[in-house]
This record gives sequence, C-alpha cells and structure tokens, in this order.
Amino acid sequence: MGNEFVAHPSHSAEYFGDTRDSWWNPDYVELLARRWGLSRVRAVLDVGCGVGHWGRVLGGVLPRAARITGVDRDPVWVEKAAERAAARGDADRFRYQVGVAEALPFEGDTFDLVTCQTVLIHAADPGAMLAEMVRVTRPGGLVAVAEPNNLAGALLSAAVLHAPVDETLALVRFQLLCERGKAALGEGHNSLGELIPELFARHGLTDIQVYLNDKANVVLPPYRSSEQRATVEEIADFARRELWIWSRGDTHRYFLAGGGEEQEFEGCWAAAMGAARRTAEAIARGTHASAGGSVGYVVSGTKPSPPSSRHLQGHVYRNP
Ligand SMILES: C[S@@+](CC[C@H](N)C(=O)[O-])C[C@H]1O[C@@H](n2cnc3c(N)ncnc32)[C@H](O)[C@@H]1O
Repeated sequence: MGNEFVAHPSHSAEYFGDTRDSWWNPDYVELLARRWGLSRVRAVLDVGCGVGHWGRVLGGVLPRAARITGVDRDPVWVEKAAERAAARGDADRFRYQVGVAEALPFEGDTFDLVTCQTVLIHAADPGAMLAEMVRVTRPGGLVAVAEPNNLAGALLSAAVLHAPVDETLALVRFQLLCERGKAALGEGHNSLGELIPELFARHGLTDIQVYLNDKANVVLPPYRSSEQRATVEEIADFARRELWIWSRGDTHRYFLAGGGEEQEFEGCWAAAMGAARRTAEAIARGTHASAGGSVGYVVSGTKPSPPSSRHLQGHVYRNP
C-alpha cells in the first residue's frame, strides 16, 4: 500500500500512489471502449504516460492485438513504466520511450488512438500539445483525453458541509487564485477539463463527445477495502507531510502569481492545513465518511480525413 514514489522529485510523483489504480470503474471503461469503437484500434499512443496508469486502464479494454506506445518527457517515468509492464507480463503490448508532447517523435498519421490522462492540465500551451496529438493521429482516428476540473473537487467532501461557510469560501478562493497563478506561470491549468471540448473544436476534431468519469471515491469507516485504505492513508500522509494540492513552496508561488497578497498567504495556508489535519484526525478516530469523487471529463474527437480521400475511409478506423 502507499506510494513508492513519495517525495520523488519527478513530475506528479506525489500522485502516482495506489489510489491512482482505482480512478476508474472497470465496467465504465468497457462502456467507453464501446462508445469509442476500440475493438478496431491497433496502434495507440499514450502521451505523458507517467508510470503507465492510464495505458494500463485502456489496455484492459483494447484488443489483444493492440500495441500501446507510451511517451513521457521524464526518462525516470519511462523506465518505471516499462518495468511495470514487464512485471505484469505485458512487455509485448506496451513500449515506452522518452519524448516531449509538443514535438512527438512520430510520423504524422500514425496512430488509431492518441490519448492522455491529466497531461493537458500541466501544459503551458495545451493547444500546442493537442496539435501534435492530432498530427500523429490517422485520418479517421480518435483523440481521447481524460482531464479534470479540479476546482470543482474543492466542494466534494462531507467535511465542507460541516465547516464554517466563510472558511469554505476562503479555501475555494485560495485554490482558484493558485490555479490561476499556476496557469499564468506556464505550469498548466488544473481545471482545464472544462475547456477541452472547445479546444478540440478549434483543432479541427469532429464528432466531439464529452462524458464524465462515473467513479466516486467513497470513504466509509472502518475503511475495509484496499481502495478505501489507500485513500485514507494518502489523505493522512498528505496532512502529516503538510502537503496541500501542491507543496507549500509551489502553493506560495502560484498564490502570488494568481494575484494573492503576500500578507494573506500564511492565513490561507494555515486554513488549508487546518482543514486537512481535521480530516486526518477524523480518519484516525474512524469518523470521517464521504461519498467523495472528482469531476473528470472524458472528451473524444475524430480527426477528419482530407476531402480527396473520404471515399477511401472504409479501411481506416472511424469513431462510430
Ligand atoms: C499527472 S501525470 C499523468 C501520468 C499518466 N498519464 C497517468 O494518468 O497516470 C503527468 C505526466 O505528464 C508528463 N508530462 C508533462 N508535460 C509533458 C510534456 N510536455 N511532454 C511529455 N510528457 C509530459 C509528466 O512527466 C508526467 O509523467
């Protein structure tokens, strides 16, 4: 249980723990596979693959013959992803390589499906990333992304229902200012999911479909399932190490860049830590219960075929 990458300096390490394995309901992913017509997909690109969580989720519903290539700018994650695929006997289906999403190391029109999970939210210029994803997709192929509105998550906890109204509003404001600051610094927009359909349309994708991940994140004492234990342990661990959504240092930078005043920061940070500590204490007492969850959008679009080749489309993959 836990996170083998705790305090690792690479991108998103604090979020690569066991809880990430339970972000999706398996039957919902099967439904996505039917909606997207994945049975016809053979060549898949997972952009910003990290240690391979998203590729593995999709691998469960892709045909056995499908080959999944993962690309990440961080060589450490590429190595770990390959190790994990080998450890579960999947090395024949998954290969990983270093690459930057804004300049993907592949020929145009290569993949039937190009996808990512929580990667566009980290981009300085999500449009540049998406343009590359579209470039390497085959005409008639599918671009599909899973990206959240993280701001909405600020209200998805039972603790919010009991806390003083002003405190809750102050924490939402704190998060919003930080999210805006992070985007202004070119480190990505944490709630970009809300803007993805429009971004898809601007990049010429057609037949745009938008769904929501149906996974709740219930915690109910005595937290018996391994999934719930992973969740409460992660909450307690973040509180113990005084991590909020980001480290204190990053939060401070984002807050100031988002228009927050230096003299306000200490109070905002103390309020965030206080809320986290109270939840951790309630977990320790076995009294914290919440339906939980997040707002995760799943957006897909088809790369149109050039007009001259439309009559030949039958042989390529098309989103039904
Ligand atoms: C939040 S993680 C998501 C990992 C994986 N998609 C998943 O859902 O488990 C973001 C990943 O994107 C990678 N990344 C961020 N910006 C990138 C870029 N410009 N090019 C390639 N990879 C990038 C990071 O190294 C990190 O592994």
